[in-house]
Amino acid sequence: MCGIVGYIGKNNIKKQLLNSLKLLEYRGYDSSGVAVLQNENMEVIKSEGKIENLEKLLTNSYGFGVGVGHTRWATHGKPTSINAHPHISPNKQWAVVHNGIIENYAELKQNLLTKNEFASQTDTEVIAHLLEQNFSGNSLNTLIKTCETLNGSFALAVANKAESDTLYLAKRKSPLYIAQNGEEIFVASDPICFATKATRYFVLNDNEFCKARVDNIKFYNKIGKAIEKEEVCLTQMEESVGKQNYSHFMLKEIEEVPSVLKRIVKTYTDTNVFKKIPQTIIKNINKVIFVGCGTAYHASLLGASFVEGIAKIDARSYVASEFRYMDPIINSKTLAVFVSQSGETADTLEALNLAKNKGAITVALTNVLYSTIAKSADYVMPVCAGPEIAVASTKAYTAQITILNMFAKFLSNNLNFTSYNYLSEIEYLANHIKMPSINELEKVSNELNLEKMCFFIGRGLDSVTSEEASLKLKEITYINSQSYPAGELKHGFLALVEEGTFVFVIATQKYLLDKTLNAAHEARARGAKLVVATQLELPENCKEDIFEVLPLQNFAEDLMPIASIGAFQLLSYLTSIKRGIDPDKPRNLAKSVTVE
Ligand code: M6R
Repeated sequence: MCGIVGYIGKNNIKKQLLNSLKLLEYRGYDSSGVAVLQNENMEVIKSEGKIENLEKLLTNSYGFGVGVGHTRWATHGKPTSINAHPHISPNKQWAVVHNGIIENYAELKQNLLTKNEFASQTDTEVIAHLLEQNFSGNSLNTLIKTCETLNGSFALAVANKAESDTLYLAKRKSPLYIAQNGEEIFVASDPICFATKATRYFVLNDNEFCKARVDNIKFYNKIGKAIEKEEVCLTQMEESVGKQNYSHFMLKEIEEVPSVLKRIVKTYTDTNVFKKIPQTIIKNINKVIFVGCGTAYHASLLGASFVEGIAKIDARSYVASEFRYMDPIINSKTLAVFVSQSGETADTLEALNLAKNKGAITVALTNVLYSTIAKSADYVMPVCAGPEIAVASTKAYTAQITILNMFAKFLSNNLNFTSYNYLSEIEYLANHIKMPSINELEKVSNELNLEKMCFFIGRGLDSVTSEEASLKLKEITYINSQSYPAGELKHGFLALVEEGTFVFVIATQKYLLDKTLNAAHEARARGAKLVVATQLELPENCKEDIFEVLPLQNFAEDLMPIASIGAFQLLSYLTSIKRGIDPDKPRNLAKSVTVE
């Protein structure tokens, strides 16, 4: 959600900015822009829509200079080129790119002493006006003073026209990173932008500022005192971001699942991740909670089911955006697990802060080890999925639920004296799991493509798979899909079932099979077209009622959520392509939701 890039150097500034912006496309955006500052001359180019539109407007830039660039995901004001960043101060002195939301922008606007006209409808433009108003002759101090008045979240990259060799940065709640290679400076919202440019980078923390020149990067705290910082090494994960021979990142990411599972086994064996939580803490907990948003919330639902079902500890899952405004009953006996692929989701981060304030032991289950959520939690469980670029989460979800299953068994071994060999179970799964072939899904996808609405049902663990399958389909096909626990069918949604309505039935738990099929028959009796995903033997008498069976591989039942979700991820992908939608970048959605 919004991407910031910056560059200082002499190697075609606009091209550098553009290449980095393309690497941030996955975050979601609807307009983009750059500002280039050379010899005290500022050029600003912006465009709505795809980055290709901006690219068409950019010529080569020669010589040394400074640039900032931005992909904007509209929050305040429509996704037009006027509202695109960079925003410029009325005296054309300052260029600002911003990620986050300035919550008090209306009040700040009202109180501006300079009563200049605003060009855009954005919250960000007020920062450019404030920089002009607050300018004291020292750009760093002006930025610090300006940020003192801002409420909300921001990562800022700022250029002053009078300084054609310097970039200023500020950060609160939204991520920002900076790297150097001796001749150039690179700034970005994600270190993946530095992969081919530098080997190390700096992480800006909340309420820190940076003044960057090619020969000198300096960091300051909120009172302008210089602070020291250590560089972080770029990891292998941040480096491998190519699509390779795949048509889409989403397909590549779904197919990476076996290798992701192998990486999980290796990482969790080599580094003994769970054991980093001291035994004294484990023995003391009486409740485990899981918190996340969207797909990560679905992983949280399974986390709670695993911990309650396997480790027999009281467990609950929460949607992060609800949790943060509740007064949850948690304390130092609560282990709180925050699930987030990106590690930057604003609601999840705030929920984590709330849990910390209440004394809970916090754990981040995240794919991005340098993320704010990873840095804020007491303990980190790495998701090990590798970079996930497609907006719809696939391999990260599969990895999260695998680790949560292992974690429940780890807790059970410790508390209930069980002896689950969870690593070898996952190793077996990794060596045998296969995605269904496109042919197996083609018939259903062809028919589904013609639909406007469909339903997913399941019981127990399958009810979560059903939720996640439904979300995936919605996100990338725009088909209105709803998920219900199978038993809820007759409590309302049966009213929507008519002749030909698609109902996907997920049935992987033997002890629930009959009950789930009862619900399916009730839908069929009202005309539903049933697609049943199962590895179980179906009773002969129900076969004629079924439009299609999606055969699943047979693994231990508590591992079936891991083994079954791929079929639905792939089905959504296929259907998305048939509808002419780019599954990697569905409309209106951002990969990393860094605002509330
Ligand atoms: O990065 P996070 O896991 O915290 O993101 C949470 C949700 O925004 C995310 O899972 C979203 O629902 C995805 N688009 C799902 O495909």
